[in-house]
Amino acid sequence: MSRSAAARVAPDDDRLDGDALPEVVRRYPRLRFMGSKYRLLPWIHGVLSELDFETALDAFSGSGSVAYLMKAMGKRVTANDLLHFTTTIARATVENDDVTAGADLAEKLQQKPAAKWPRFIEETYSGIFFTREDLQFLDLVSANVGRLRDPHRQALAMAALLRSCVKRQPRGVFTIAGDLRHYDDGRRDLALSLREHFVEQLDVYSRCVFANGKRHEVVQGDVFALAGRKFDLVYLDPPYVPRADDNCYVKRYHFLEGLSRYWKDMPVLAHTKVRKIAKVFTPFSYRRTAVDAFDRLFAQFRASTIVLSYSSNGFPDLDVLVRLLRAHKRRVDVHRKPHTYHFGTHSKVRRASVSEYLIVGR
Ligand SMILES: C[S@@+](CC[C@H](N)C(=O)[O-])C[C@H]1O[C@@H](n2cnc3c(N)ncnc32)[C@H](O)[C@@H]1O
Repeated sequence: MSRSAAARVAPDDDRLDGDALPEVVRRYPRLRFMGSKYRLLPWIHGVLSELDFETALDAFSGSGSVAYLMKAMGKRVTANDLLHFTTTIARATVENDDVTAGADLAEKLQQKPAAKWPRFIEETYSGIFFTREDLQFLDLVSANVGRLRDPHRQALAMAALLRSCVKRQPRGVFTIAGDLRHYDDGRRDLALSLREHFVEQLDVYSRCVFANGKRHEVVQGDVFALAGRKFDLVYLDPPYVPRADDNCYVKRYHFLEGLSRYWKDMPVLAHTKVRKIAKVFTPFSYRRTAVDAFDRLFAQFRASTIVLSYSSNGFPDLDVLVRLLRAHKRRVDVHRKPHTYHFGTHSKVRRASVSEYLIVGR
């Protein structure tokens, strides 16, 4: 397999080391997510600790791990992402200071409502993802989550549901469907039903909730819509155009994106085998638009300290990015770390070595 972005998803059984890392960060529910920086958090923490800032933006928050790290560092954090499911997770873990879920909520969310509830998931995805029972469970819990009044309770329950789906789906991506028995290597995550996962995940997410005394914010939208907003530090981890394959998040995670809003205003493309939804355009995904997009991004945040994550297997090249950043910032430092990505199933884990960079512009 190539060192494509598709491959950059590690198994979720490794633990974070790094003595100085705030303890709560180790509790963050790691998500199998393309380009996740979870395993790099101790290193990112070390670099961020050298910088002076109070307010921070994680402009491409993805699985939310870096936004959560900065919250754990005592900062006032804004997390932004183009997608709805990723911002739901950040709402549950970064914006949410105190809402947790006990056994009573787990029970309430599994009770059948008096009136009929929609069966969209069962009707649309039977024979494609999960078992029929799992899909019925998703319809039921989605209906009940929609009735919760507190947005943070809603986000927490939805985050638990999303992570349950990722764990139960082989490789954690929704590009593969149908009979997936050949992926089954006896892993507990594949053996548990969605119902069993969900009860566990409610607890996992509840345990990561904490307050740092600051108010945090989550925004769903294009990074360029944040023009005019001021932050002491901006952490940028956009998708990079990979050397091979593509880096489309909607292609891999369409089911999670749909689920997070019960497919409201997200029509399913009926002719697609896995019942995808439409892609969302981002200029960072294409060679012809990426360089200009980076330039505009650096210009937009020129008044902030900029910390850019970059991996040696992405486009544009490191020296192009450094040159672009130098046009906007007086001092640019490059931190490098050799890093191994794991990919494949647990029985056949393979590795790819790349260099990870943090490019800091001040
Ligand atoms: C490499 S991932 C971020 C990973 C994240 N740092 C983590 O640790 O999980 C890139 C993210 O950028 C988001 N994204 C892509 N284009 C965007 C845009 N124009 N504005 C905001 N977010 C965007 C994607 O939805 C994806 O979640």
